[in-house]
Order: sequence, then structure tokens, then C-alpha cells
Amino acid sequence: MVEIAAERGRQASSRVSEEGAGWACQEIGTYAGLRPDRNGFSWLNLRTLWRSRNEILAGLFGDPSGEVRRRWVAAQRARGADGDFRITPELGGSFSFLLLGDTGEGDASQYAVVPGMLNVAADTDFAVIASDVIYPAGSGNEYGDKFFRPYQHYDAPIYAIPGNHDWYDGLGGFMRVFCDAAPLKPKPDRGLRGLLWRKPETIDESALAGARALRGKETQQATQPGPYWVIESPSLLVVGVDTGIKGAIDAEQTAWLRRVSLDPRPKVLVTGKPIYTRNDYKPSALEGGGTIDDIVRDPAHRYVAAIGGDVHNYQRYPVKVGDRVIQYVVSGGSGAFMHATHTIRRVDVGGVHEDDFRCYPLRGDSLSFYSQLYAKRLRMKWIYLTPDEASCIMSEQIRNTPVRPLGQVTVTRRMRWAARLLGSWPWPFRLPVGQVFHRYLSEFSDWDTPPFFKQFLHLSVTPDRLTIRCFAATGCRKQEEEPPLEDEVSIALS
Ligand SMILES: [Fe+2]
Repeated sequence: MVEIAAERGRQASSRVSEEGAGWACQEIGTYAGLRPDRNGFSWLNLRTLWRSRNEILAGLFGDPSGEVRRRWVAAQRARGADGDFRITPELGGSFSFLLLGDTGEGDASQYAVVPGMLNVAADTDFAVIASDVIYPAGSGNEYGDKFFRPYQHYDAPIYAIPGNHDWYDGLGGFMRVFCDAAPLKPKPDRGLRGLLWRKPETIDESALAGARALRGKETQQATQPGPYWVIESPSLLVVGVDTGIKGAIDAEQTAWLRRVSLDPRPKVLVTGKPIYTRNDYKPSALEGGGTIDDIVRDPAHRYVAAIGGDVHNYQRYPVKVGDRVIQYVVSGGSGAFMHATHTIRRVDVGGVHEDDFRCYPLRGDSLSFYSQLYAKRLRMKWIYLTPDEASCIMSEQIRNTPVRPLGQVTVTRRMRWAARLLGSWPWPFRLPVGQVFHRYLSEFSDWDTPPFFKQFLHLSVTPDRLTIRCFAATGCRKQEEEPPLEDEVSIALS
């Protein structure tokens, strides 16, 4: 099944044509009809910012996620959860699954992923959401439009690991929905942090029951043992870790991760914080010393890939570790507003050569996208760069051959100034195109039309091979029917 979609998708990708990127959209996709009527989401709203305040408080006064996670885990153990937090669906040696990252905005950019995802999901046994299931603050009252409704027709279980945004609710919404857990008893946190800290929202249980009914089929049911877990199959383990607000792993989770990593089967790590991103190395510290990446790199543990959400695009770094190659993947483009790729410099991190690095959107498309956005919103027509112009400028900057064939372009001074303002100058001398943009300005952009540059992963497993495929969602009808295949990598398991 997926091989046919992959074959078609290869010819239809943004690496082959502008149309594949969604630049020449003839018809808007069917996702528009799936969206809820209400305009669900606004980052510019003061209430939204106030609800997200725990990120800032965690930075100023320390991140309490580790302590709160211990209490959730103790409560789950008291309810009889599996000692190693194993999930054991009936999987044979061959199976497949989807991986979605940073889904929960409940707006066009999330729903635009759904039709194409359902098109390639037919053979999948389950899906995993890697981080930020619900924006802005993980509320258990927002799962209807941001989780149950968009995925109502996905006919298999969905498991998840939380992201920082889910933790802004103290994980209350996440634990209620995915682990069927009762709220934790409030524990006073003294001092300024305790005073200002946002407490979990009280969940409207009848509304939640109504939302749950949207994924009420027997085949869709999933109960996971905790915020971190391991999905077992005869040929591969999928290990999901919970990186809280700031990325630190508490001692109990560390001990669990060390324990499950000793299993002799090959493994894929799923994390809320990617280890390699934007040509940078961020290995996530473990309480008591060492990093998650130390565990991933240990040859005895047999990790073949580490996939992280949190950054809203796709990047793949094949890193040579001893005589093996571990695939480090960023995959957080399944819902929330796109983070730029054109600010990723020529790749050299971890010994990865630029020519072996892959990203989606292509840097030229990312630059053209943001130039169009700012040209419209700031009424600065001169800043707009066509996809060809932007690709040409990016390949000059990165010193690589443009990925897709270009038309005739003469780079002018105007174009160079636009590119500087949109990316090559360091922050704060350039316009926001990353996290700052996402947090404070993505609503101002009100980007409701294709291309969206969203993506999701399809992973197929056989006893001796794992194939990871990155499919794109542009928001155009054509790419809903034939999702472009933007990247694929095949990894030997035996
Ligand atoms: Fe996110």
C-alpha cells in the first residue's frame, strides 16, 4: 500500500516541482470542510500568553515537571500500571505506524494534514503524537477540536508523549485523556513560582465524554501507562520519553530508560526535544548525569533512530556513530505554524555533510513563504521573493546545488536585502521566523491558505528493515490525493 503512495509521492514532491511544494494550488483541499466553525486559536490574545506563562516561570524559578511527573507516575503505579510502562499491541514482525509532531492548534494548519495522512494511513497499526498535543496550554477541555475531531476517522489507536505546552497544564489534560488518570491532589508550591504558576484546568467531564465519542470505535481505543512508555513488537521497540517543559529527565524516568534500553531488540527513540536541530546538538540532560544521547549512542542499546518534535518542520541528520549510522530526525510539522528552515546554515554538525542533510520545507521555499507573509502583512512588496529567487539566494548562501531545477534568475540587490532581513542577519536584526514568530506573531499572519508546508512520518517495519518516510501536506487538493514524498530512509535492523 504505502509503496504505491511512495512511488507516486516521489514524482510529486517539492524536490521535483514548485507544484509539489503547493505553490501552484489549483484547488483548496477538502480539509477546509473538516475544520470547526469557530476560529479556535489566537497566540496574540493576552489570555493565551498568560496561559503559557509556565514556560517563563520554569526558566526563572526552575522547572517543576520532574517532581510533578514523579507524582503522576506514582499514581499510575498505584493503579496497577505495568512496571516498565510497556504497551503491547498485537503486532507481528512486520507492521507500520504514523508519527505526527506538534499537532494541536485546532486550525487550518492542523486540519490540512488530515486528508493526506488518512490516504497513506490505511495499513498502519497505530499512530504516535510526539509533543504538543494541545496548544497553547494542554487543557483537557480543548481535546475535542484539537485531537478527537481531526483524527476521528483514523481507525487505529493513538499514543502520545507530551510537549512543553501539554506541561503548562501540569499534564492534567494529557494524563486524563491518554492514561485515563484522575487529577492529582494539589500540592502547595511556595514562593513566587507557586503563586503565579498556572494550575491544571478542571475538566468538563461531560464535554470530554462527548469529544471522546468521536473516536469511540473499539479499534481506536488506546490506554497508555504513563507520559513515557515503550511500544513492543517482535522486531522493534518504540521508546517514548517525556522531556517536560525544559528538557530534563527525572531520576526515575532515567532509570526506566536505562532499563528498557537494555532489551536486545532494535529501537527508535521518540522525544519532545530533538537531539540534532538547526545544525546544533542538544542531547537532553539526565538527572544524575549523562544525556539521553549517551543512551542512544551506546551500541549495546541498538537505537537506529531518534525522532523529536518541538520544532515545526522536518530535518534529518544521518550521524556516524562508530561503525553505525543513527538517523536523527526532527518531525514537528503536523499542525502548528511552520518554523523556518532557511535559517539553518550549511550543515556540518556531528560530522554530517550538507549533501546528506534533508529538510522540509526546502530552504528556498521557507524563505519565499516568509517573504510572502511579511510582504502582505507589513505591506512591504519589495521584500517578496519568488520560490525561484529564494532558492537561488539560498543555494548561494548554503553553497549547494539547488534541489529542484530553477528557472532563469538574476539576483538583484533588492533580493539580497530581503533575504538579509528575513534570515541571514542574526536576531534581532531580522524579522522573526522561528519560535518567537510562532509564539507571538503567527496569529497576526492569519495564514489560512496553502501552501502550509506541513508533514508527517510513515514508518514501516519488517523483521530486518525500518523505512521512514516523510510525507508532505500543502493544503492543496492535489497533494491531499497524492501526498508528496519529501524524504525516505531505509535502515537495516538485523
Ligand atoms: Fe510545538
